[in-house]
Amino acid sequence: MINGFFNPKSIAVIGASRTPGKVGYDILKNTVQYGYQGAVYPINPNASEILGLKCYPSLLDVPDEIDLAVVVVPPQKVCEVIEQCGTKKIDSAIIITAGFRESGLEGTKLENSLIKKAKESGVRFIGPNCLGIIDTHSRVNASFAAGMPKKGSIGFFSQSGALCLAVLDRALSEDIGFSKFISMGNKADVSDTDIMIALAEDDNTKVILGYIEGLTDGRKFIEAASKVSKKKPLIILKSGTTISGAKAASSHTGALAGRETSFDSAFKQSGIIQAHTMGELFNYALAFSNQHLPAGPNVAIITNSGGPGIIAADACDRSRLQLVPLHKETIDELRSFLPSVASFYNPIDILGDAGADRYEKTLNMVLKDEKINGVIVLLTPTAVVNVEATAGAIGNIANLVDKPILASFMGKKSVESGSKILMKYNVPNYSYPEEAVYALNEMYRYHFWINRPAKTFPHFKGLKEKASNIFKEVMEKKREHLTDPEIHEVLKAYGFLQPKSLLARTSEEAVAASKGIGYPVVMKIVSPQIVHKSDVGGVKTNLTSKKDVENAFFDITTRIKQIMPTVNIYGVMIQEMIQGGKEIIIGITKDPQFGHMIMFGLGGIYVEVLKDVSFRVTPLSQEDAHEMIREIRTFPLLRGVRGEAEADVEAIEKSLLILSQLALDFPQIIEADINPLLVKKRGEGMVAVDARFTIGGE
Ligand code: COA
Repeated sequence: MINGFFNPKSIAVIGASRTPGKVGYDILKNTVQYGYQGAVYPINPNASEILGLKCYPSLLDVPDEIDLAVVVVPPQKVCEVIEQCGTKKIDSAIIITAGFRESGLEGTKLENSLIKKAKESGVRFIGPNCLGIIDTHSRVNASFAAGMPKKGSIGFFSQSGALCLAVLDRALSEDIGFSKFISMGNKADVSDTDIMIALAEDDNTKVILGYIEGLTDGRKFIEAASKVSKKKPLIILKSGTTISGAKAASSHTGALAGRETSFDSAFKQSGIIQAHTMGELFNYALAFSNQHLPAGPNVAIITNSGGPGIIAADACDRSRLQLVPLHKETIDELRSFLPSVASFYNPIDILGDAGADRYEKTLNMVLKDEKINGVIVLLTPTAVVNVEATAGAIGNIANLVDKPILASFMGKKSVESGSKILMKYNVPNYSYPEEAVYALNEMYRYHFWINRPAKTFPHFKGLKEKASNIFKEVMEKKREHLTDPEIHEVLKAYGFLQPKSLLARTSEEAVAASKGIGYPVVMKIVSPQIVHKSDVGGVKTNLTSKKDVENAFFDITTRIKQIMPTVNIYGVMIQEMIQGGKEIIIGITKDPQFGHMIMFGLGGIYVEVLKDVSFRVTPLSQEDAHEMIREIRTFPLLRGVRGEAEADVEAIEKSLLILSQLALDFPQIIEADINPLLVKKRGEGMVAVDARFTIGGE
């Protein structure tokens, strides 16, 4: 697919205008003014020639073959043009025209007709409502952007045309090279996933950059991203976060799963490097496209002033990078030429009177230290330092080594020329030290990602069969929630240990059940309409005698009949009271973009107050389960603090994997919580004390 869009032998601009300043004019001009070698055909029924090129009344009048159509006619005429593309066997089109889905109901109808027409005509298209595309290598500029960046290795796709223009403008002003620019527009046909895969296969693209607001098929995107990110760094800025979907949730898991969480988790899981701001998007792109990846986390900082060194050190503390001490031999060598009052420990402060020579010698020495995996060079523009000579010295060294070197020449006016020299040598320069640290940190994390072994996806056999009937029955009865006895059966089928439980319909049955199970017991209301049992006073714990059980039965049933007279009460569940262990919560939620996600967190106040939870998209790999447990802030509590025994973390890991399988087995699950899941000491497993399941849809 990529060749049709990015390497066409000929281009037709349909709606090429005679009037300078109109979009159709600028696009035609861009196709011819940047060195594109193929044939360009303007199409306009009202003109015979534009920009010296012969004009044709319609695509069908062009006698030659055309590879790419750029459509700039008003919206009502787009479908007809696409039909003509089909007749003319043009399989790639870029639709610049606005006035589709983004403009309301009528536009949405028009877009649907366009999709249908393109399918019938065998035409793939980018857009509509886009700025166009640029390929600096094939010299195609089929856009109405003002300029063409220099050749480079960054491929950028963006849902926003305005963002494309902003990035392009910065690329032009700072002479940053790009391989391709793709403005995606409404993504009615060609999707982010298609373009991401195309960029992954493109030899001219080393780093893939993307800006997205939403995804049409999140799951497909994530699956593709997991493969692409192993091949090339994939840096994405995602905007348009909303948590509105969380409001209607009936489980903790659902309530805690905002859209931000789902994107964060999905990105993490698939090796996407997430930029949170446009600044980060650029900063990371510059580092990845210009420098080698660090082979480890150890970084050295060279600075000519204390403050910026401390700022960089603080940023290292907040990252995965480590500011390790240098080898003794390196320190001895540094002592041989640095002033005695310099600081030889990391950050290495070579003092305010340092010139290019001192920077050069220090950098060479530090790079030789095999403990060090990367260097950040900070420069404050003192009156003594020769910014350009220092930049040149750093650049020369950077070209000879395979360790990453990032610079932060601070300030603007006095370091501008130095910054340009650094860029010439492919050394990215950042205005502030912490930007350099975070960029290097992302490079280290990426090194870690590409070197980790392939993920393993365990499968547990023979679980689904035993639970199928329950889901089928609940669906047939058009119920949304599973009752406690049903949940008990499902969890049992999936191997979750549960407290001994018996259903009792009368007070007498409750007493008999309690006796059979053994005191103390817990009593819970059983009703298909009641999901949050304790919220309505439907749970009594620590019942130690026959009297307690009789009173509890009376209290629960009368209270619920009073406050919820229409609900169906099946009876109460008598349960063995489990004591000890740590409360955790695991759950399933359905995200609109990514489908089923699994949640993990510490139960009780940790989930209620701190919202200290982690998420992953299903299917969960062994590694995902391992990481999501360790990711929460309160993980040390599971490891055991102040002499407490370590909780059975391996059992939690397995339970997350089983839950992931449960979600895959039953697509009709909308939400589920096992809460609390009591985890015992290492090797002793866990008990699912309470759970809720909401189903629907498929
Ligand atoms: N085939 C070929 N050319 C045709 C045509 C057809 N069926 N119908 C009209 N034309 C010609 C017109 O004669 C005109 O040429 P002229 O200027 O020499 O007379 C040219 O196509 C453009 O048509 P016009 O009716 O003048 O439209 P326009 O230039 O005012 O607007 C768009 C056309 C596509 C630019 C406009 O509808 C639009 O969508 N603008 C927004 C674009 C945008 O912002 N995209 C998203 C960016 S992120």
